[in-house]
Amino acid sequence: MIEYPPRLDLARLPTPLTRLERLSAEFPGVDIWVKHDEMTGTEVSGNKVRKLEFIFAEALARDCDTVITCGGVQSNHCRATAVLAARLGLKAHLLLRGERPAELSGNLLLDHLSGAETSYISQADWHTHEDYGRELQREYERRGRRALFIPIGGSDAIGLWGYIAACEELRADFERNGIEPDAIVAATGSGGTQSGLLVGRELFGLGARVLAFNVCDDAAWFDRKVRRDVTNWNERYEMGFDVDNLQVTTIEGYMGPGYGVADPEVYRTIAGVARQEGIFLDPVYTGKAFSGMLSELRKGAGGCLAGAGAVVFVHTGGLFGVFPHHRQFDFSQDSEDE
Ligand SMILES: Cc1ncc(COP(=O)(O)O)c(C=O)c1O
Repeated sequence: MIEYPPRLDLARLPTPLTRLERLSAEFPGVDIWVKHDEMTGTEVSGNKVRKLEFIFAEALARDCDTVITCGGVQSNHCRATAVLAARLGLKAHLLLRGERPAELSGNLLLDHLSGAETSYISQADWHTHEDYGRELQREYERRGRRALFIPIGGSDAIGLWGYIAACEELRADFERNGIEPDAIVAATGSGGTQSGLLVGRELFGLGARVLAFNVCDDAAWFDRKVRRDVTNWNERYEMGFDVDNLQVTTIEGYMGPGYGVADPEVYRTIAGVARQEGIFLDPVYTGKAFSGMLSELRKGAGGCLAGAGAVVFVHTGGLFGVFPHHRQFDFSQDSEDE
């Protein structure tokens, strides 16, 4: 029995686990399952709300009236934080990387609709964003308010509980469906989902390996980040977890040109999966990871999914991030009489 820290009921859980019938048929011997965390809510859809259930509980326990967080202009995490803050009657202050765009679209539009305050920090100064966030936190204190600073992606010792709890859900999903998946696949950006899954699989005895496809940085960066967050979690909650023996597997090679920029193959995968299965991936996170997973399956014995009979892709959301990329999709092959 795991004793969880205080948690708010903010996500629509449990999310469904479904088998992709048509796509699985293309890979004889492999069943591709999807854990639908894009369905954790509507406005708060995606993986972040799982972490934020614990983080907002901490904010309320500390009597905070404000939350400060940070991310890209199209950050799903910032959007989820802004929406949840509005829902809980708190103020959200978002530190966004880059310049304010001329048009408010996708996640950024929802940030504004939910009343979040936004401040922009240039790419060149972004390395100072945590210092800026902490200074802002002190500034709120000076004004008689109380603010919680949430690090990028909600990936810290508290947020880690989100995907630990998701593993408890997955264990029940696997039992219900009578499956023993070989791998759990997810996109990794700030490492919190990956860390939670890695710890959760141990705590709940899931046999599946956790394979994370990076959408920024590299495997060495994620190795350090995951170990640091898991160590902090271990110390904070006195869990006695064996961090040294943690196997962190980050699959490189599918980031494309960089964070937020995708190759045409990713857009083709997004359109293909939407047509074939009615599931929408995004070009920043899930599209890259899913496209990477399919490539690895196609490699067969030479890929990281060699011998896998069942794989579970954790769909971590990101739908609102599709809209700002609408020009990248190629519909020129479509014809009316198709
Ligand atoms: C849609 C989506 N998928 C995956 C991720 C990666 O999760 P994490 O930041 O926990 O690595 C993020 C956020 O960064 C996201 O918004």
